[in-house]
This record gives sequence, C-alpha cells and structure tokens, in this order.
Amino acid sequence: MTSLEIDHSDRLRPPAPRPLDAPLGPLRTLWALRKNPIETWTKAHFELPIVVGPTILGPIAVVSDPAAIRRVFLDNSANYRKDDLQKRILGSGLREGVFLAEGDDWRVQRRTLAPLFTPRTVASFARATDDAARDLVARWRRLRAGRIIDIQPEMGRVTLDVLGRTIFSDGLGRDANTFMTAITRYFLTLGQLDPFDMLDFPEWVSRWSKRGNQSALDFFNEAVQEIIDRRKSLLAKDKAAAPRDILTLLLEAQDPETGAGLSESQVQSNVLTFIGAGHETTANALTWSLFLLSLSNEWRERLAAEADAVLAGPVETYAERLIETRAVIEEAMRLYPPAATMSRQAIGPDDLAGKRIRKNTLVMVSQWVLHRHRLLWDDPESFDPRRFLPGAREKIDRFAYLPFGAGPRVCIGASFAMQEAAILLAHIMRSFRLDLKKNHLVTPVQHITLRPANGLPMMLRHRGQPSG
Ligand code: HEM
Repeated sequence: MTSLEIDHSDRLRPPAPRPLDAPLGPLRTLWALRKNPIETWTKAHFELPIVVGPTILGPIAVVSDPAAIRRVFLDNSANYRKDDLQKRILGSGLREGVFLAEGDDWRVQRRTLAPLFTPRTVASFARATDDAARDLVARWRRLRAGRIIDIQPEMGRVTLDVLGRTIFSDGLGRDANTFMTAITRYFLTLGQLDPFDMLDFPEWVSRWSKRGNQSALDFFNEAVQEIIDRRKSLLAKDKAAAPRDILTLLLEAQDPETGAGLSESQVQSNVLTFIGAGHETTANALTWSLFLLSLSNEWRERLAAEADAVLAGPVETYAERLIETRAVIEEAMRLYPPAATMSRQAIGPDDLAGKRIRKNTLVMVSQWVLHRHRLLWDDPESFDPRRFLPGAREKIDRFAYLPFGAGPRVCIGASFAMQEAAILLAHIMRSFRLDLKKNHLVTPVQHITLRPANGLPMMLRHRGQPSG
C-alpha cells in the first residue's frame, strides 16, 4: 500500500505523504517546495518539539512545542514579524490590508475592523449563508442522481457566493461571472510558489508563474471601486437604505481611539484580503470534510440526523447547535489544515524549546506537522471527530491546534468561517449522499492553501436513495 491509499485496516487513516527519513538536497527541496511543500517534512519534524537548521531559504526553525508556539505568537510576539517571503508571495493586492500590515498600521486596522467580526455581527450573516446553502441544494437537486461532480470547485463557488452576499449584498453591479472568474484567476496564480519569490529575486524580475495576475487585479480593483462609489453615494443620500453588509461596515469603520476611518485603498485591499483569506480556506475545509465523511458511514449518518433536527429551528442558532458538524469540520482541519504553515521572522534573538534562535531566523509553525505530531496527538493519522466533541475539545492545548492561528494576529474571520462551514455542510448532509469516484486517488497538495491535487470527483445521490 502506498502512503496515499486509504488505510481502512482498523481505524480510518486518510491519505498523506509519508514523512522523509532525511532532508532532501537543495535542488530537490526547491523542486518539492514548488510542487508540494508538505512532501519536504521529515520524520524528525513530526517527532521533535523543534527542528533548527540552515536551509536553502536561510536559517529556519520549525516549532511544534506548544509552549514555544505560545511564546512566538503571544508572549513574545513583538519579537516576530511577518516575513518577507509571504509578503513577496501574496504580492501587491493584499499589501495594504490587515493581513500583511505591520506595527502601528496593523494595530490601527485590526481595532478598526474588530466590530465587523463580533459574535453579533457574524450571527447577522447567518441568513445570507443559509440562502446560499439553499441555492446550492436546489441547484444540485436538479442534477441527475448518480452524476459525478467535482466537489472542490463546487465548494469554491458556494463560498464565493457567501462572500458576495455578505460583502456586497446588493450585488456586484456588473457581470458577476466575469467578476468571480477574475477573482478566481487572481488567487490561482497567486497560489503558485514561484522559485524567484523563494530565492528573493528583486521584484522587477518578472515572475513567469504570475503572468496575467496584474490584469486580473486591475479588473478587480476597478470593479470594486465602482461598487464603493455607488455605495458611498447611497450612504450620503439615504444612510438607512444602505444594506448592513461588510462593505457598509468597512466604509463606516472608525478607529475607536482616534475616530479615523479607513482610506479607500485600505477598503479595497481589505475586501480583497477577506476574499483571499476567507474563500479558498473555507472551501477547502468543506471539501476535506466531505471527503472524510465519504469514508465514514457512522459520521455521515450522525451529521444527517443532526442536520434534520437543527435545520428545522431558527437560523440564528444553527451554528451553535450543529455540534457534531463542527466537530467533523475541526477534525478535517486538523488532518487537512487549509492554512498549512505560518511563518515569522525573528527581529532579535530568542530561546525556543531549548534552542537558541538567532536574529532574522525564519520561524515556522506548520499546522500540517503540528496537527499530526507524535508528541501531541493520540493516533494522529486517524480520523476521529470525537476529539472535538464537548468534554474532549477542552483538553486540547490551545497551542497544539491552530487552524486559525493564535495570539493578536489570530484569524479575524474564524467564527464567520466556522458558522459558514457548519451551515453549508449541514445543508449538504441533510439532502445528499456523496461518494468518492471509484479509483480516484486523493492527494493533498499545498498551493498556499491545502487542497486535493486533482479535485474531488464524487458521485451525487439524493439522500434516501439506495446506493449501488
Ligand atoms: C476555514 C477558513 C479559514 C482558515 C483556515 C483561516 C486561517 C487563518 C490563519 C491561520 C490566519 C493567521 C495567519 C498568521 O498568523 O500568519 C488567518 C488570518 C486572517 N484571516 Fe483567516 N482563515 C479562514 C477564514 C477567514 C475568513 C472567512 C476571513 C474573512 C472574512 C479571514 C480573514 C483573515 C484575516 C484578515 C487575517 C489576518 C489577521 C491579522 O493579521 O490581524 N479568514 N486566517
């Protein structure tokens, strides 16, 4: 059996590349980083609290000790800044948004944006998410039972729909399909690690993997500018008539300390940031959840029963009552974390897990490694959502499970994403049964986010129909 086949022997161990016995040489590392970074991890990474060493990207410390992670992301976070590599990769479009901002600029943006993601505001987006879920179910119901659909782009489409409905709830104003295609193209090219980025070539050296990226970004910025102008004139004319969506909240957001608003380019950059940070990540969390559920009859039945009960109640309470659905999503993000690595650059020296960290060291926390670490998890390779049910969930170290990061720069959209994923998954499980296409090999690949390499073709059946 290869490491990418599914192990049904006793417990369910879904596919993952086997850790290497020893690190690859420099050229093979570069090649593997471009092809699939999760194939570069060695056994030592999964067994030791920290691995420090020189690499072709300079000195790197890979940290998997929860206390040391807490130090990097919380207690001594002032000593760690977002590194230049991710700035080069994420490029111009996101540069002015909160994701890449640093220092005072970040602090001001983060506290200005905080009201957009309070529990109350997030709950106010449940209805729009539910509408998108119902549209998806209606569209799939029209498909012939037994039809094979690729779940990955389907989840991309529905999560983009949710973002569209919550950011620009009165529509995109121009051809929505062209808009969505430009966004998808932008993030697809962005997702390709370019060797020139990794090796820190100057920005004027053209990145062949990113050709076409600028024109998609220009199209997007122009379209968003039109939407912003329209919304601004509506707010000026009749504030009460403007929808209370993310765009209005962004345009009205004020720094609680100074009363200053965001600049227009910060609004644009943050719209792109929310789409970039919240689209594919949530789509992948759902894609992996559906893949894992297709391997477990027990969990698919449990989720369908929970959806039957909860979706009969009020929409505002869905997310908190979908307990088993959330446990499956959390377990899916443990095994297949949509954001599979986070990195920081040490501003000054430090000590982490008994090792000396030099100034400028790239400090990495890989959720892929951390969530499968031998010292932290019982039978780490196996799919078991019980780990995340109430009673067990609280025992997981806060710094051993980081799908949304931690500390002051923790994902601002975490509860938005969990609510969205739970509502969408519940609707799907209530109405359909999905089975992996026969003989399709599922291979996780990290292209900024972690996704199945060749999509996820699944056979769609309406629930209650015999499988055969
Ligand atoms: C399952 C879905 C998601 C996952 C797995 C995810 C993961 C993450 C992670 C790991 C970080 C921290 C990165 C770091 O510290 O280097 C982060 C930050 C961020 N995320 Fe998410 N995210 C998700 C959904 C969303 C959504 C829906 C939004 C917005 C609508 C969003 C907006 C952001 C922003 C703006 C930041 C930067 C925060 C800051 O630096 O202050 N994310 N996300």
